[in-house]
Amino acid sequence: MIVLLICFVFIDVLQIVICPEGKDTKIVGGKGVKDIRQMPWLVNIEMKYVGHICGGSILTPVFVLTACHCLVLQVSQDKTPSKTISADELVFISGTLFAEKRDNNDPNQQIRDAKYLLVHPQCRDENKIQVFDYGLGVLKSPFSFNAYVNAFKLLSMNKTIFQNKFDTIVKNPKAKCYVAGWGEVRRGEFGIDDEGRMSKHLRIMEMHLISDDQCRQKFGQISPKFLNFNFRNHNQICAVGSKMWGSDCQGDSGGPIVCEGFQIALVSYGFQCGISSPATYADLVPFVEWFSTKVLSYVHSRKTSTAPHGRMRLSALNCYVLIHLMIVAVSYDAG
Ligand SMILES: *[C@@H]1O[C@H](CO)[C@@H](O)[C@H](O)[C@H]1NC(C)=O
Repeated sequence: MIVLLICFVFIDVLQIVICPEGKDTKIVGGKGVKDIRQMPWLVNIEMKYVGHICGGSILTPVFVLTACHCLVLQVSQDKTPSKTISADELVFISGTLFAEKRDNNDPNQQIRDAKYLLVHPQCRDENKIQVFDYGLGVLKSPFSFNAYVNAFKLLSMNKTIFQNKFDTIVKNPKAKCYVAGWGEVRRGEFGIDDEGRMSKHLRIMEMHLISDDQCRQKFGQISPKFLNFNFRNHNQICAVGSKMWGSDCQGDSGGPIVCEGFQIALVSYGFQCGISSPATYADLVPFVEWFSTKVLSYVHSRKTSTAPHGRMRLSALNCYVLIHLMIVAVSYDAG
């Protein structure tokens, strides 16, 4: 059975279902990062009491970019916007190579709570394909920038300029790209078993962008609906590990793909860990448009509003686990 990976809650389950035995890292075939100063924009997003769920990247001291599917329980399947989980459930950690904060005495680590979470209004599961997979954590207090914690480089905040620069990079067959992430942290049952929880070291994988045709062909072998899927029209690009045997994997969702020093997209979905199966990335063109036309004014209006913000708690952790199991149960055969 092939399972489409659109929800971070699958992380543990999928690791068991899909990844080759003994491979417990999500970036399969990658190598360890020696110093977080190589990529000070990397953010580890943890769910309180559960642990690492997704990667993210620092846009500004208060905005963390990640995938929409990292911030919702279930991606909307119709025109209604996807609903985020409660910001209280998450912590955002920067400045460290290690994923589990409780094992970590790293003096450069910075831990922040989110004030609220935002997802792209068109973030949805469109005929079982994740689209507009953009989300933002808006932090209660800003990260302090230094050599260990800093913003990623964005091609432009202007959509047109971004698109032009993006096209140049994507057309360049020599473009140097990589993904980075912590991948799987927990191997216990559905993440609630303490056994096997350990510090995971940030890993990096060199990636090679592939054409839409190649991606259609590769994904089409897994699910025929991809044979006619227009990745470009959906602002998606595909990449494979540059050695053709590694790739990022689901636990790296939300993390950046960096080409020529700039983050051009984020990890959205894929089918298999490693073994030359491509992964799909949501390019940042729609994000830049959403951010500059909607997000900034929304954030500003919230700041100037005197209305108190309700503190919604969606549910207790037990309830999460239950709902997660239900979502796992609706994973489907894509063939
Ligand atoms: C974006 O850049 C283009 C090309 O330089 C320019 O024409 C346009 O006015 C810019 N848009 C905004 C919103 O600044």
